[in-house]
Amino acid sequence: MSFRITYSVLEADLSTLHAQFDEALRAVREMLGARLPSWIAGEAYESGALLESRNPARPDELLASFHRTPVSELDRVVRVAREAQRAWGATPWEERVRILRRAAELISERRMELAARMTLEVGKSRLESLGDVEESADLLRYYARQLEEAEGFRRPMARLSPNEDTLSVLRPYGVFAVLSPFNFPLALAAGMSAGALLGGNAVILKPSEETPWCAEGLYHALADAGLPPGVFQVVHGEGESLGAALVRHPGVDGVSFTGSQAVGMDIHRQLSTGRVRPCLLELGGKNAAIICRDADLEAAIEGCFRSAFGLSGQKCSALSRIYVHESLLNDFTDGLALKALDARVGDPSLASVFTGPVINAAAVQRFERAVDEARRDGAVIAGGERLRLEGGLARGHFVAPTVAALSHGHRLMREELFLPFVGVTRFRTLDEALRLANDCDYGLTAGIFSRNAEDVERFMSEAEAGVLYANRRTGATTGAWPGVQSFCGWKASGASGKGGCGPYYVSQFMREQAQTRM
Ligand code: SER
Repeated sequence: MSFRITYSVLEADLSTLHAQFDEALRAVREMLGARLPSWIAGEAYESGALLESRNPARPDELLASFHRTPVSELDRVVRVAREAQRAWGATPWEERVRILRRAAELISERRMELAARMTLEVGKSRLESLGDVEESADLLRYYARQLEEAEGFRRPMARLSPNEDTLSVLRPYGVFAVLSPFNFPLALAAGMSAGALLGGNAVILKPSEETPWCAEGLYHALADAGLPPGVFQVVHGEGESLGAALVRHPGVDGVSFTGSQAVGMDIHRQLSTGRVRPCLLELGGKNAAIICRDADLEAAIEGCFRSAFGLSGQKCSALSRIYVHESLLNDFTDGLALKALDARVGDPSLASVFTGPVINAAAVQRFERAVDEARRDGAVIAGGERLRLEGGLARGHFVAPTVAALSHGHRLMREELFLPFVGVTRFRTLDEALRLANDCDYGLTAGIFSRNAEDVERFMSEAEAGVLYANRRTGATTGAWPGVQSFCGWKASGASGKGGCGPYYVSQFMREQAQTRM
């Protein structure tokens, strides 16, 4: 069976997709308010202490409550994982591939229900939610194919003498803690977990406290695909308490984390004490686009609009700095501002809505502070206000897509905001644009719009970021897909060196052993 890219389903037949989504939304809404467990040792675990999952578009709507996993329960969780891993690590790799491929099929079969949940839990638009679900399934398929292509990572080596055979074999580390963020609640939880599982590790998933409901969907897909009990467990609680305790636990052999730079570096420090343990980090971004004098203006505006404001700017790949050649500055900024003002922000469960709310009240406060600073030190060209929508959405966390004119050195042009907020500034020469784009702690994604092939090649060789795009109107800095763009953070954006979605991913969850037999 080969890897297939399923993203095309989103362009296939939009009216059928919307009808199916409406139906799934109705069905999912009938399940609201359930009390759901953590999953330990293949069994539902109920502590009685509840974590609520609410709809950021309608905070009065309780989606589900989840039994928190107390920190005191982690010893048992880790013990269960260690026991289950022994058999799982010894399972033939072909069987691990079979189970993960089956899970991918189940995720695809259940895509409408999973996407409807996601839209309610994260506030993602319909198509972004469906994209996230299909990306999850494709990640599982793509990583499974890596194991097949590498024949389970067993490789004959050179001979020192004729009667001696040596193999290089990649073996699991043991137990991985996977800490996943809210913004791609299925794809990132599924991708990181699948990398570890295919490598023969057991996984303890601690999903973002904002998205336990999506993680519940992943648990059932893996369990129904036949993953043995205890190999994949899901614990619920806050990152600062439960997540931190899990990372510190001596029975955890490695950590895979996607989230903020501050938390990632803290995890890195924790894992560097005592024995050094593997630590795969995909952290933030402050992604830049360069709009050259000879750019296709319309494509540049479209690509920048999508990357800055899709999912309300809450992607690590989101565009947040735009450097525009001085000759185009006014036309570009006016065009982007008009699109931002025109964008339909509202209930993401409606087909016509471009983007939904930000994730919580704290994000709205961050937005309001950023706007105040931009007004004080630069200018707000479009947006800048909290949106008070009507009816059930009145308390929703809605903010307007915002374009600001800011100088390159400003705090808002250096720190990750994770908001629909983009800063624009001018440049005169490509040298200057590249210097400004690279003058940043982060290095995740970057884009250029230029009709000059030499300038594009210079950008490709000099831009300091792991994912580069040229002239992409579907997204100036966003839109990586499994098996297409490795998603690899440079500088402060990551510490693994090999990206998710990329060809070396699974091997990072394994350690090498040389086996010589006479
Ligand atoms: N696949 C996503 C993107 O590239 C990850 O953030 O936008």
